[in-house]
Amino acid sequence: MKQGLPEIRNPNIDIKSVENFSADFLNGVKLRYNGAMKILVIGSGGREHALAKKFAESPEVEKVFVAPGNPGMTLSKIESVGISELDNAGLVDFAGSQAIDFAFVGPETALANGVVDAFQAAGLKIFGPTQAAAQIEASKDFAKGIMAKYGVPTAAYATFTELAPALSYVGKKGAPIVVKADGLAAGKGVTVAFELADAKKALEDIFSLPDGKVVIEEYLDGEEFSLFSFVHEGRIYPMPIAQDHKRAYDGDKGPNTGGMGAYSPVSHIPDWAVREGLDKIVKPTVAGMIAEGKSFTGVLYAGLILTTSGIVKTIEFNARFGDPETQVVLPRLTSDLALAIDAILDGREPELTWLDEGSVTLGVVVASEGYPASSTNGLILPEMTNLDVAYAGVAEKDGKLISNGGRVFLISETGNTVAQAQKSVYAKLEKLDLNGFFYRHDIGSRGVES
Ligand code: AMP
Ligand code: GLY
Repeated sequence: MKQGLPEIRNPNIDIKSVENFSADFLNGVKLRYNGAMKILVIGSGGREHALAKKFAESPEVEKVFVAPGNPGMTLSKIESVGISELDNAGLVDFAGSQAIDFAFVGPETALANGVVDAFQAAGLKIFGPTQAAAQIEASKDFAKGIMAKYGVPTAAYATFTELAPALSYVGKKGAPIVVKADGLAAGKGVTVAFELADAKKALEDIFSLPDGKVVIEEYLDGEEFSLFSFVHEGRIYPMPIAQDHKRAYDGDKGPNTGGMGAYSPVSHIPDWAVREGLDKIVKPTVAGMIAEGKSFTGVLYAGLILTTSGIVKTIEFNARFGDPETQVVLPRLTSDLALAIDAILDGREPELTWLDEGSVTLGVVVASEGYPASSTNGLILPEMTNLDVAYAGVAEKDGKLISNGGRVFLISETGNTVAQAQKSVYAKLEKLDLNGFFYRHDIGSRGVES
């Protein structure tokens, strides 16, 4: 009977009950881990909720812990544990004591805080880039330097650490122009200035804080898309593309946010543009990171733009899944995410299959009034049974979910076309009592029009 068992390559995996395993195997269920995998997702937002739900779908998975998680994550296999995503020692202790098979990092703040380095130092498996590799997101200047050195197409730029030369550069270049604060800013550190005065104001704001550093970029015009890839030791497994909506209000008006809604796939972005993004942007960047001694493991998020001149260029890199794109990309995965990540980390070929392009998944973020500048906490969420919801900024009070942050939840639907998915999400949103909340009414409209 033993020779029928699939090969287990990871010596850390404890096969808890060979008898059970064999019985399942004989029943035709080829469970590699006897349904006993334990996964730790680090983070607390909608992205992490989508990750936890997808991991929980695996028959291999017994438990998905989410640290710190949120009270909206209620599926039976999912458990929120009260450990901050920035408490490296606490996370390592928990993962060790629970014999976690691997951890998966959601947010960039945890990556920049060195959670991957801490897990690796403790001999624990984790999917995400080291602190050094996460600089591809944490420092726009670092990312621009990699792109310049390895010939990756992106907007022309200059970096400044003082206000006066930055102001004079902007004056010389004129508007439109893009001003980016160097560090992590949850999508809110970028000003796309169509008037010189806006660029100057953004610079003054950045340099009003200590250690101001800014990247000033040429403005790129075109159609943006998000291309995510699972990456490990130079191997790249791309996912279907998505399109995010970063501005707060309808018609792409208002300030930049972390993202107000998304859909996937994006059929008006032609296949050749995705291929160009992979060949000319993702591959040389992954190779460049290895050459720099900062090999990237994790989800590499390429924020790309098909410019009006027909060239695909890089807007930004992130070192993790996008939020809210994850909430519309991951539901389209038809194979086992837990086994795929396990395989990638072990250097085996993962099985990754996706819903085909004959359907579209679309999600709309519901935010509390004030976002992105502030948020309204304590609003009672409506009942949402039978809806596909990814919870983000929520807390619990008297057995009810209440708002606790800017982006509160996202509702998604899959339809045959963008228009159909859009119609069904909005039909559901309109039935909810959302006093004190707001959402965009045009998520996916670029996909409908084209
Ligand atoms: P980032 O945080 O770098 O992704 O920037 C946030 C958003 O600002 C992007 O999704 C774009 O919509 C916009 N943006 C950033 N850089 C540029 C650029 N060089 N040209 C035009 N728009 C940009
Ligand atoms: N949705 C954009 C981001 O995750 O950065």
